Amino acid sequence: MFGRVKSLDAILATAEKKSLHRSLGAFQLTMLGVGAVIGTGIFVLTAEAAQKAGPGMLLSFVIAGIVCAVAALCYSEMAAMVPVSGSAYTYSYAVMGELLAWMVGWALVLEYAVAAGAVAVGWSGYFTGMLAHLNDYAPFLPNIVIPHDLANGPSGGGTINLPAMIIALVVTGLLVLGTKESAMFNAVLVVIKVTALTVFIALALPVMRGEQFAPFAPLGFSGISAAAASIFFAYVGFDAVSTAAEETKDPQRNMPIGLIGSLGICTIFYLLVASGVIGSVGAQPLLAGDGTGLAPGSTDLTAACHAIGDQAVVCSKEALAWTLREIGWPQIGNLVGLAAILALPSVVLMMMFGQTRIFFVMSRDGLLPEVLSRVHPKFHTPYVVTVITGIAVSLFAAFFPVGALADISNSGTLFAFAMVAIAVFVLRRTDPGRHRPFRTPAIGFVAPLAVAGCLYLFFSLSGYTLALFAGWAVFGLFVYFTYSRSHSHVGRGLVEVHEEDPDVPPMPVAPLPGGIELD
Ligand code: ALA
Repeated sequence: MFGRVKSLDAILATAEKKSLHRSLGAFQLTMLGVGAVIGTGIFVLTAEAAQKAGPGMLLSFVIAGIVCAVAALCYSEMAAMVPVSGSAYTYSYAVMGELLAWMVGWALVLEYAVAAGAVAVGWSGYFTGMLAHLNDYAPFLPNIVIPHDLANGPSGGGTINLPAMIIALVVTGLLVLGTKESAMFNAVLVVIKVTALTVFIALALPVMRGEQFAPFAPLGFSGISAAAASIFFAYVGFDAVSTAAEETKDPQRNMPIGLIGSLGICTIFYLLVASGVIGSVGAQPLLAGDGTGLAPGSTDLTAACHAIGDQAVVCSKEALAWTLREIGWPQIGNLVGLAAILALPSVVLMMMFGQTRIFFVMSRDGLLPEVLSRVHPKFHTPYVVTVITGIAVSLFAAFFPVGALADISNSGTLFAFAMVAIAVFVLRRTDPGRHRPFRTPAIGFVAPLAVAGCLYLFFSLSGYTLALFAGWAVFGLFVYFTYSRSHSHVGRGLVEVHEEDPDVPPMPVAPLPGGIELD
């Protein structure tokens, strides 16, 4: 089963057919990365990181950023060779065989579909908050309070998170209709997001007080590690840079600048925003009677928050807007909330798109039923897989808390990144002469560090998350051995070179200045 490999030459022939114009420079790539990365992680999960680590979450942001940077360097070597989305799966197929490729593809389902659910829940927090403060926006508007039951899943003390579910279904509809984001639209969203964070920093930093940083690590280093594993979510999305490798001028120089540059910029923003939250309103976790931290998203934390009238940032579902309201800038807080409401749906769209593309490729390889790659006659989109993905995402969003979804997504992403780092390393040994548009620098050091970093974060996730990951993996193995193995095109000797994927719209591209279209 490990011997079932797909020929890398056949895969590369497919990719080469697409040969796109090389137009992207370091600046555009950096913007692409910044646009794809900033989302629910910083806008919402900052509160969860505070609940896990207290002010020590600053260190968590740094650790997660470093792991992402080394993983990104390995990812780029692969993505530069196989520049299609879902390339981690394709690449593993060529290097490590069908079974591991299947497991990577199966883990990417967690990365993309569950992440889309997490971002939808993050959006819901800001949307609900905005409706409840409508009157602050304009005196003639009434505040609208969505009943708690309908704006929270069961662990948040409610029944169903209706806004999160609806935004996921709306995005599904847009994807079925074939909506793509234009580069211009994306550029506008990046400006909105970056402006919102900059305004937040400018207002929060001046009112910082040093004593808010003590105790720095109330839950010890294990709390910092757990927060790092969760806040890793805030950096996910840089794959968008990697998959643009084929359109990059001088990728050997520009890819690492784009990747490390965008991760570096996001890390600086994240550290400043987190410092602003900690220093202005404090970020101490709420503790159980025995001194342990209450789990974010749990009913216990919801009850503890209720008892203090939600007067702590760790209780907020819209951490940045809440902080600004607390420090005397309610109007600006609402505008930052509005920025999140406008920008987050595009992250949901990107994640769901990534998911449909992976299912599409796996189904084309015969590992999933071919009906999944059926294309709509009018809209020319893979509507079957899109609708199935959309229903799953909307159910995740309706019933699970944002932090749990982000953690589950991270488990899949960390697994896939570790496998990619191993595959890149292995292929250097087994096929050293192959043309590599981008070579990971100091691979003997960077690849093992990436694997170790991913494993460290993976095992810092909660036991509950790891159990779900294990369950998902076992289910994946069951599907593989009962269906995929016997239907695999490689297994049946059908290896085809696809011209390209004419029926699947290209990955929606993140922002490029000047309205440059990647696709
Ligand atoms: N990094 C993306 C976010 O934080 C997934 O929303």
